[in-house]
Amino acid sequence: MSRTCLLLQCVFLESCNLPTSATRSLLSNSFTCPQAFFIFGDSLTDTGNIQILAPGVNSTTLNYPYGESYTFTNERGHNRYSDGRLIVDFIAQAFGFPFFEPILLQSDKGFQTDYTHGVNFAYSGATVIPNNTKNPIYLQYELDKFFDYKKALLSSPQPSTPLSFLPTAAYLIPEMGINDFYYAYSNGVSPETAIDEILPKSLKLVVSAVEQLHASGARIIIVGNQQPQGCSPSVLTPLRGIRTGRYDTIGCSDEHNRVNRVFNRKLKRALTKLQESYKIDGTLIIQFDFYNAFMEVFTNPAKYGFNPSNRFEVCCGFGGPYNYNGKVMCGNNGTVPLSKGRTQFVNISTALNPKEHIEWDGVHFTEATYKVIASFFLSGKFFISPLGFNFKHLCNLDFSQF
Ligand SMILES: *[C@@H]1O[C@H](CO)[C@@H](O)[C@H](O)[C@H]1NC(C)=O
Ligand SMILES: *[C@@H]1O[C@H](CO)[C@@H](O)[C@H](O)[C@H]1NC(C)=O
Ligand SMILES: *[C@@H]1O[C@H](CO)[C@@H](O)[C@H](O)[C@H]1NC(C)=O
Ligand SMILES: *[C@@H]1O[C@H](CO)[C@@H](O)[C@H](O)[C@H]1NC(C)=O
Repeated sequence: MSRTCLLLQCVFLESCNLPTSATRSLLSNSFTCPQAFFIFGDSLTDTGNIQILAPGVNSTTLNYPYGESYTFTNERGHNRYSDGRLIVDFIAQAFGFPFFEPILLQSDKGFQTDYTHGVNFAYSGATVIPNNTKNPIYLQYELDKFFDYKKALLSSPQPSTPLSFLPTAAYLIPEMGINDFYYAYSNGVSPETAIDEILPKSLKLVVSAVEQLHASGARIIIVGNQQPQGCSPSVLTPLRGIRTGRYDTIGCSDEHNRVNRVFNRKLKRALTKLQESYKIDGTLIIQFDFYNAFMEVFTNPAKYGFNPSNRFEVCCGFGGPYNYNGKVMCGNNGTVPLSKGRTQFVNISTALNPKEHIEWDGVHFTEATYKVIASFFLSGKFFISPLGFNFKHLCNLDFSQF
């Protein structure tokens, strides 16, 4: 395809991604589509690890109305922080793979189930910085689980399935560091302090994760940057009435979003440098811009089928300006304080019209939102790098189940 042709395409298509020289050389080296995905991360990508990690302490993901929009036919059921599928579930379906199984389920079964298209190491609530909260799971923990898993696979005398997928696997690290900030905010840390004290530590560890995966043989590494947390009802709700803050034109807290923007800018710089030094062995680092992908949806809700009248209204929640109360959340019940010392018992077991809502439970998003973000990702929109790279054009994707 000539450059002129691409330029013309660019005029007519929304996504104006011209291939960089890196993309061109990559494509001429006959790119092999990923045969498997190894997933890391937090509740954005967790397909059940959190549930298995704490048996007997069932997370609310098993309570109605979690999972009300999609029926998973596998044995673990829904087990996700949404009303239905997550971004990684749509990725699995587009590539024609089974849903990525939680690693804890895999190890329970001695790796006898189908792992040939990947495994999920993500845990809800995972941080990047080790042990800085009550949550015991952090990024390096997930990586170490992956390294153990790989060792077990490679040393298994009779692997039930061939290991040829390992060299053509993609490794996905989405939006890590988000929870480090959430926990800090809920402990009263200000956005300014978060930038100075938390950001440098977590950034360093995310970059280190990419380096470790590369050193272990990963050749397609996908890193998603941080979503705009200042648009989350969980961040916005406590701000109301306490301080005016600075809100952007759509109502997000700009001082919180700025934290994510600073993180993302530095992450981009570090990953671009790594990509340069990995060129020699053909490693591809894909940078996906979660921040602007989510901002696009928040800014133009109607364009994606969402009700624009309250773009931050939580689908499954209770009370306040966003239908959100951090004391009793979706799928749970309890007593919430009202004004003048009164209290009310609530049982949050209804969620009307999840397809019209962007926000699911105040922290996580609806399946409908995840579908839009997954579609962006698969069609190369909001790629920071490499520009012009597009799974939809390169791989044989199937969108029929979307
Ligand atoms: C957790 O869920 C499992 C499976 O649905 C159920 O058997 C168990 O009783 C639940 N445990 C608690 C403490 O609710
Ligand atoms: C985090 O805490 C656990 C449990 O106390 C411990 O085993 C682990 O080594 C700690 N990790 C780091 C990096 O400090
Ligand atoms: C509601 O509260 C009861 C009693 O505290 C508890 O047993 C139950 O698991 C809670 N959750 C739901 C969804 O009813
Ligand atoms: C809360 O609602 C769910 C679903 O309707 C119901 O099964 C549960 O018993 C309710 N719990 C309480 C404590 O009212």
